[in-house]
Amino acid sequence: MRLANKTAIITGGGSGIGQACARAFHREGANVVLFGRRKHKLEETAQELGSQKLGSRVLTIQGDMTQSDDLDRLVQETRNKFQRIDVLVNNAGLFKGAPLHEISDEQYDEMMDINMKAVFQLSRRVLPLMMEQKGGSIVHISSILGMIAVPGVAAYNVSKGALNQLNRSIAVEYGSYGIRSNAVCPGLIETDMTADLMKDEALMQEWSRDYPIGRFGKPEDVASACLFLASDESSFVTGTVLPVDGGFTAH
Ligand SMILES: NC(=O)c1ccc[n+]([C@@H]2O[C@H](COP(=O)([O-])OP(=O)(O)OC[C@H]3O[C@@H](n4cnc5c(N)ncnc54)[C@H](OP(=O)(O)O)[C@@H]3O)[C@@H](O)[C@H]2O)c1
Repeated sequence: MRLANKTAIITGGGSGIGQACARAFHREGANVVLFGRRKHKLEETAQELGSQKLGSRVLTIQGDMTQSDDLDRLVQETRNKFQRIDVLVNNAGLFKGAPLHEISDEQYDEMMDINMKAVFQLSRRVLPLMMEQKGGSIVHISSILGMIAVPGVAAYNVSKGALNQLNRSIAVEYGSYGIRSNAVCPGLIETDMTADLMKDEALMQEWSRDYPIGRFGKPEDVASACLFLASDESSFVTGTVLPVDGGFTAH
């Protein structure tokens, strides 16, 4: 098993890409810690994983990424139950659009607080334990919109661009401790986040032409990349920004 004896925290682990990571990591032997605000989503996922009868390798922790006490609790409860943190998947995020000149200070702050500041704060809390352990893998779920920009989502573009720089910063600063950091940049993926957008058939048909593979992504497409980056198979891979986008950014 590719993640045997490893413990992985997955923020936003109760839905979409985070849930797909939870399934993949658990299947490969990891202890998984699922964090998010909606308790029922976390518990549904935990129940599904538990029903595979692989023992008690799932911990759910309800909390908000923007509350520092909740982040402290996430790290502490993970240590209490599993003693270590080998993998951190910074997946929780927010996507909202508006023309740049109409975005209020509050909306900008909300986007940056969840997509960037909280990731910075949680990574900062997990790094000391990874340093003690002399190893760890941090995987950030960024976006192709951290690599390129599209109109109407300026705050999101900025937040994910900054996340890609945080990724590189961790890679260069902590590589000597055996800690790796990589960012995965999904294209359009079918999740709750994009469900409303995907109802617009004409728009989807237009956008799908920009995906050489000829389809949009599934959460499992992203989880497969995360599994590789979380595992020791990628032990010489750090600081990368990996598009998982069916070729969208190859244009
Ligand atoms: N879907 C796409 O096309 C796409 C493309 C590129 C990048 N991404 C990125 O992929 C990541 C996952 O998104 P998704 O597509 O899987 O959508 P999703 O199902 O809506 O997942 C977002 C997750 O983030 C959690 N979350 C949001 N705010 C939080 C907060 N303040 N505290 C704790 N948890 C919070 C949510 O849980 P609760 O609501 O229960 O807290 C939810 O589980 C995001 O970072 C997103 O930007 C998605």
